[in-house]
Amino acid sequence: MKIAVLTSGGDAPGMNAAVRAVVRTAIHYGIEAYAVMNGYKGLVDGDIRKFERNDVGMILNRGGTILGSARLEEFKQLEVRQKAVDHLKALSIDALVTIGGDGTYRGAADLCDMGVNCMGIPGTIDNDIASTEYTIGFFTALNTAIDCIDKLRDTSFSHQRCTVVELMGRHCGDLSIFAGVASGSEIVITEETGFHREDVLDKIRKAKQMKKRHMIVVVAEHMLDVFALAQEIEDYTGYETRATVLGYVQRGGTPAAYDRILASKMGTYAVELVRDGAFGHAVCARGIEIFSMPLREALAVKRKRTDLYEYLEKIS
Ligand code: F6P
Repeated sequence: MKIAVLTSGGDAPGMNAAVRAVVRTAIHYGIEAYAVMNGYKGLVDGDIRKFERNDVGMILNRGGTILGSARLEEFKQLEVRQKAVDHLKALSIDALVTIGGDGTYRGAADLCDMGVNCMGIPGTIDNDIASTEYTIGFFTALNTAIDCIDKLRDTSFSHQRCTVVELMGRHCGDLSIFAGVASGSEIVITEETGFHREDVLDKIRKAKQMKKRHMIVVVAEHMLDVFALAQEIEDYTGYETRATVLGYVQRGGTPAAYDRILASKMGTYAVELVRDGAFGHAVCARGIEIFSMPLREALAVKRKRTDLYEYLEKIS
């Protein structure tokens, strides 16, 4: 038997741990392991290499992905995907483990429709795959965000300023709300909360009147222009305000313990699914339980708003 693995979409800390687990578990079961370089792009180009145990040595603790990643819009086209299928067939590869976000899952589900057995492992800092409680990379990105907000609070306090900070997450507010609660931020604005301009400005004005030395406003990306909001806050409340966009720093760094363990368990589980004859499944986790469901079903699961929003209301 032969299994290939790829990482696709935005890189996430812990992807390497998942690659390592896939390759080593496969070899453990006497299955040949292959690595596809640069996501679906490498699959289309035929950049597929045989991997041995040592090829995934010393990567468990490394951020990014040693396989490389890419976003490939053209993969939605049947004729482009056909090239990928042909390369897999030429090497007689029985299954492909894909590690990435929902775009990666969609690509994997489309390949399944063309007869390729694909498994999906959720790897993204956004935590926007509803079929799993947490995605690989989320907690590392969260730690990075908290660390940065703690630093912003130091300078915010010293200068008696309000700080507006934009976090990633695509269209999911989890990174913002988890970071907001864990850093003691006063206000969090995400798609799930909506942006209630008057309420936000009034809350900050009241804090200023009560001589609060600092305010942190966390804003999820795609919600609004944080620099314009900072100006508005300053004009309306009298609080000197600065805006910071954290950006890609959230995607890098050495993976947190949780991400390494989740990735290791999921990588092993994906290979065992293939060995046991499953076709087209997504690996999921809830609490300590690892399980799977068909990829299309996983893509259809609706995301629920985390109950952390209620905590923030009470303790911020
Ligand atoms: O999905 C991870 C992510 O970092 C999102 O949070 C962000 O919206 C997006 O990727 C940025 O994408 P790109 O790397 O293509 O600029």
